Amino acid sequence: MERFVTPKHIEEDHDSEKSIRPDHLDDYIGQEKTKEKLQIFMKAARLRGESLDHVLLYGPPGLGKTTLSCIIANEMNVGIKITSGPAIERPGDLAAILTAMKDGDVLFIDEIHRLSRHVEEVLYPAMEDYAIDIVIGKGPGARSVRLDLPKFTLVGATTRAGQLTAPLRDRFGVICKLDLYDHEELGRIIKRSADVLQIPIDDEATFEMAMRSRGTPRIVNRLLKRVRDYAQVKGTGTITRAIAKEALDLLEIDPIGLDAVDRKIIESIVDFFDGGPVGVDTLAAATGEETTTIEDVYEPYLMQIGFLQRTPRGRVVTNKGRIHLGYAPISSGEQLAFDALGEVL
Ligand SMILES: Nc1ncnc2c1ncn2[C@@H]1O[C@H](COP(=O)(O)OP(=O)(O)O)[C@@H](O)[C@H]1O
Ligand SMILES: [Mg+2]
Repeated sequence: MERFVTPKHIEEDHDSEKSIRPDHLDDYIGQEKTKEKLQIFMKAARLRGESLDHVLLYGPPGLGKTTLSCIIANEMNVGIKITSGPAIERPGDLAAILTAMKDGDVLFIDEIHRLSRHVEEVLYPAMEDYAIDIVIGKGPGARSVRLDLPKFTLVGATTRAGQLTAPLRDRFGVICKLDLYDHEELGRIIKRSADVLQIPIDDEATFEMAMRSRGTPRIVNRLLKRVRDYAQVKGTGTITRAIAKEALDLLEIDPIGLDAVDRKIIESIVDFFDGGPVGVDTLAAATGEETTTIEDVYEPYLMQIGFLQRTPRGRVVTNKGRIHLGYAPISSGEQLAFDALGEVL
């Protein structure tokens, strides 16, 4: 079963995402550094009448990468073609997409770290010189022809910047890292979405939900919809703190947004590996989750709230994490040693 608080896109997000997705940078909440950067580069490109430099967006799922790419196209007043790394199977697929674009258009490639080698090699000259080389004919008579492309803007998104090859990464002029959102920002996103969907919600309920959304707009919006259902059936339709709490408890999302899998990760480290350090592959085997899922989905939040530390020798549960899960804290001497380990990174 799909976790309810998975930040990955699931089917039920579909309808609401279109209506509550912000279209303009002004409605895009948080990520101030990224917004400022984009604002400057977009303005400069517009002033020069050129297309925007290629943009790489990276960060955990559900933080607004796809949203931002659509905003970029919107603000630049150009078209956008959305595709993903695994969807572009052969170099010819990419050539077909690129030749069909217009000057300034945005090509959004999601999960760009999953592009095949061959496709990536076609992308290099396309990004750099707005041209591709195609081979005509076979054998000794084969010749390469250079084809000019429109001056497109590539917007790449990835959850794993570390898996991008250096030549690809180097061809992006603008690189933006998206961070988990703080409670105040999540609260503003809830308010905005509630406004769009015309759901009455009070401030305390907003705060309660922001606390349980793992720093992720996609989760905030999903919780809002579920809590609305609960409020309509069990309450008067208005989302109050009591209603929000009851609904979220029913969904087994704890007061700080952890679900059963998060708890299992922390518990496994404490129960089987003495609190750590333990390597992520071993941890994956012990919990039955995939390594990449642990790294992309669970860890960022567990680290942000200070429950987990990444050290050169593996993952370590902090005293804060122990206490939340009902374990006794370890002595300060041991904790100091762990902290020192953490700081090596
Ligand atoms: N900064 C933001 N402000 C308001 N809503 C946001 C923001 N970022 C994301 N969202 C909402 O969260 C949802 C998921 O965002 P999305 O762009 O699909 O994430 P990603 O592509 O990074 O997985 C979108 O439907 C959008 O409504
Ligand atoms: Mg996306």
